[in-house]
Amino acid sequence: MRVFVAGGSGAMGKRLVPQLVGAGHEVVAMTRSGPKAAALRALGAEAAVADALDRDAVLAAVERAEPEAVIHQLTALSELKSFRNFDREFALTNRLRTEGTDHLLAAARAAGARRFVAQSYGGWTYERTGSGLKTEEDRLDPAPPKRQRQSLAAIRHLERAVTEADGIEGIALRYANFYGPGTGLELGGNFVELIEKRKFPVVGDGAGVWSWVHIDDAAGAAVAALERGGPGVYNIVDDRPAPVSAWLPALAEAVGASPPRHVPAWVGRIAAGEVGVSMMTRIRGASNAKARRELGWEPRYRGYEEGFRDGLADVPVI
Ligand SMILES: NC(=O)c1ccc[n+]([C@@H]2O[C@H](COP(=O)([O-])OP(=O)(O)OC[C@H]3O[C@@H](n4cnc5c(N)ncnc54)[C@H](OP(=O)(O)O)[C@@H]3O)[C@@H](O)[C@H]2O)c1
Repeated sequence: MRVFVAGGSGAMGKRLVPQLVGAGHEVVAMTRSGPKAAALRALGAEAAVADALDRDAVLAAVERAEPEAVIHQLTALSELKSFRNFDREFALTNRLRTEGTDHLLAAARAAGARRFVAQSYGGWTYERTGSGLKTEEDRLDPAPPKRQRQSLAAIRHLERAVTEADGIEGIALRYANFYGPGTGLELGGNFVELIEKRKFPVVGDGAGVWSWVHIDDAAGAAVAALERGGPGVYNIVDDRPAPVSAWLPALAEAVGASPPRHVPAWVGRIAAGEVGVSMMTRIRGASNAKARRELGWEPRYRGYEEGFRDGLADVPVI
């Protein structure tokens, strides 16, 4: 299939493009930069240079590529520093999820693409009450912390625009938190550095449940979604979401760091704000049953225990 990948040069794109090429797809990958265009060609893709926020440029790039499908993996989180001012840190990502999505969808339709697969998120976005793992049927949080409202609104926009698009099969993949090569949670990555310096403590009871997914498993889900699954949303998470109080010590051990410090919620609030405390104590994990059933996707790293132990270093993609 001829596939246009927006975000082909990012943490996700670098793992996705080789998987697509390896599966026999023809890939045109978008970047804003000349040097990254050369890197994309080295991965086996054609490169398209355009800014995702420039509607005319996106329309022209997608039209030239003549894709049968478009994959949207645009985010701008490489400068992410803390959860404290969440919406401020996510501001550009939120634009990519609203304006960027609208431009790409318009371009995909104009170019005659029949399928559209977009990156969404499934973690803190779900309602922070109830037991068990959240399914796609469960509602998104009607009352997120104040500084997460714009970011949740952007995700709602993306999911609605993609799954309700006229004349195109739209799929939104609700990814868990990424780890693995090229992400901040790889050996030597900025998140691992925080763990090594014991600057990422367990806050309060650490009962917030985080879903995880290895970046190669996440990329594999986008490849699967090109060919299988009806329009809609799918959680792309591993089999064993876990509370912070369990995965954070396991992560520290996996990277050879001392166990994390524990701080009370009021201290966490000073450092990480209401959003940070909520992420550490209240959020829920998600179920991957639908993606397994309908996309035929299954994660190679089934839980954080083996993922953090074996999946943080770079290994060949295919
Ligand atoms: N679910 C999750 O846990 C999750 C989700 C997303 C990101 N992250 C993490 O966040 C960190 C940073 O990743 P990232 O993917 O945000 O950053 P990144 O690795 O810098 O990738 C961003 C991608 O989006 C493209 N992009 C951004 N703005 C664009 C624009 N205006 N026009 C065209 N392309 C644009 C970039 O292209 P060019 O720069 O080449 O133009 C690049 O391909 C990583 O650790 C990643 O794992 C985690």
